[in-house]
Amino acid sequence: MSEQQKPGLSRRGFLKGVGGGVVGVTVLPSLRTATARYGTSVGPGAARITLTVNGEKKMIEVDPRTTLLDALRDQLGLTGSKRVCNKGQCGACTVILNGRSVLACSMLAIDADGATVETIEGLAKGDELHPVQRAFIKDDALQCGFCTPGFIMSSVLLLRQNPSPTLDEIKYAVSGNLCRCGTYPHVFKAVDEAAKAMKKGG
Ligand code: FES
Ligand code: FES
Repeated sequence: MSEQQKPGLSRRGFLKGVGGGVVGVTVLPSLRTATARYGTSVGPGAARITLTVNGEKKMIEVDPRTTLLDALRDQLGLTGSKRVCNKGQCGACTVILNGRSVLACSMLAIDADGATVETIEGLAKGDELHPVQRAFIKDDALQCGFCTPGFIMSSVLLLRQNPSPTLDEIKYAVSGNLCRCGTYPHVFKAVDEAAKAMKKGG
């Protein structure tokens, strides 16, 4: 099939886009979202946003290109969510936003304006760890620990939505989280044990 006959974007057309206007593909959707939310365009100066993070309302000013992860880590001092790949591939930055898991490195902070965000720092109640955190420690489900906050946030959300997951459901729930140390069997066991403990009220 010739290039002209192929449906969709041709290779040549794509390369032209890269040379001349890829910004229109990758950046403008976010700016459009921001424009719709504020009614006026955002930037180049800072934008003021409000987040409810782990139950506390926070008002911060962010550069419009700041990711939610950078806002959490660098402006709010919540460094539990890890910046590992910083491009949406590893899941180390997973947080719960309005009840759904999101990759904080792949979302603009201005697009989270008004949202409720839960991070690993918000799970423990005082000195008492969340059952998933306790199970990860008991089952040795971490080595270097860089992936661990993301795995735990994905697991916490799973158990909220499905208190009795099967092994396959556990594997699916954390399938967006990568562990280079290879702790997967321990993670699956920990989530299973946390589910059982939570059902008993633990
Ligand atoms: S740091 Fe966000 S997906 Fe890897
Ligand atoms: S414990 Fe090291 S990457 Fe998962």
